[in-house]
Amino acid sequence: MEIIKVNELLSAAWLAAILPILVASIPWRFSFLYGPILSVAKRGKTLRSSNSQKFTIPQRFFLHFYVVGVVWTTFLLAMTWFYGYAYHKMVPVGSDSLHFSTVANHLTGGSHMHKSQTSVGEHGYRVWRSVFLLMLMEIQVLRRLYESIYVFNYSPSARMHICGYLTGVVFYTAAPLSLCSVCAPEVFNFAIHHVAEFIDKGWDKMLIRGPISEIDWLIYVQPLTALEWLQWIGAAIFIWGWIHQRRCHAILGSLRKQKEQSDKYVIPYGDWFRFVSSPHYLAEIVIYGGLVFASGGSDLTIWLLFGFVVANLTFAAAETHKWYIEKFTKYPTERCAIIPFVY
Ligand SMILES: NC(=O)c1ccc[n+]([C@@H]2O[C@H](COP(=O)([O-])OP(=O)(O)OC[C@H]3O[C@@H](n4cnc5c(N)ncnc54)[C@H](OP(=O)(O)O)[C@@H]3O)[C@@H](O)[C@H]2O)c1
Repeated sequence: MEIIKVNELLSAAWLAAILPILVASIPWRFSFLYGPILSVAKRGKTLRSSNSQKFTIPQRFFLHFYVVGVVWTTFLLAMTWFYGYAYHKMVPVGSDSLHFSTVANHLTGGSHMHKSQTSVGEHGYRVWRSVFLLMLMEIQVLRRLYESIYVFNYSPSARMHICGYLTGVVFYTAAPLSLCSVCAPEVFNFAIHHVAEFIDKGWDKMLIRGPISEIDWLIYVQPLTALEWLQWIGAAIFIWGWIHQRRCHAILGSLRKQKEQSDKYVIPYGDWFRFVSSPHYLAEIVIYGGLVFASGGSDLTIWLLFGFVVANLTFAAAETHKWYIEKFTKYPTERCAIIPFVY
């Protein structure tokens, strides 16, 4: 599995998902895609007012996205971290003239065939940057899992389209993979190689072996401290969006105080609701913007992942804004749909 192919495949998938949403968003709304995309994007309150509820499932199944997200991100994070550790241990100081494929081939039992002029140091840095991005993603999916269970009060009649559901499951598989796609093939080969080695030789004779007490724990975290300022600014942007999304979700979750009100919709106030109708979508865009920043901005796959989040949530926010204006005669006129003072 060549690195270039995983990147290309993911980029093509994000592009294929973005384009129909963009076409459907053309302002004149006579685009043939508008209807189908809208029926997939509608959920909860916006779907309730539509005529057809065919092919829909409960909106509380949103929970499944975060179960998939947590399991998959944890797996990728653990594997990439172990790989980064093994890589870091193998690379001697001053070996920057080596090509990373030499090291990768050794760690994956020769199964890593990628030919590249990237130096070992540069590639090692990319591996640790992927670990950092996956850590941020883990923080996000863990909070979303918690909120889906304890904060949101999904009404029993709130539904979403089955295609919207499948899109969510695919999203939480493809998004973490996109964050580490620069090293995903070698990480998988590394994992397979070590499972095979473990089955064949047992723990004692393995390449990465030894009692827990012999493991140099500092090597597990030390490369993270060597990341550049772009990663830390990206993390700060991510945390800013994360905090506001948590607050906006808490506001939405508190709108229905009693069980009998579980079908009731009211106008939310507070935090970024002062500016826009869907501040939790805006916060999600800020979160993924932070990830783009932290990635260094040189990875097209991560840009396209961000593009999908922006296109998807802007489309959904426009429908939500329209719904609020139609439903509440006294809806705050200064509120925009998703971008404060602009849209
Ligand atoms: N990364 C992505 O591409 C992506 C895609 C989709 C969602 N998300 C994220 O997932 C999160 C949840 O999205 P969502 O579309 O499920 O949000 P949502 O439709 O706003 O619903 C969230 C919860 O708040 C309730 N709610 C919303 N407006 C309400 C109102 N006016 N009065 C009373 N209750 C209200 C909903 O109830 P009902 O169930 O009754 O409607 C639901 O329980 C968001 O932060 C979003 O950014 C991300």
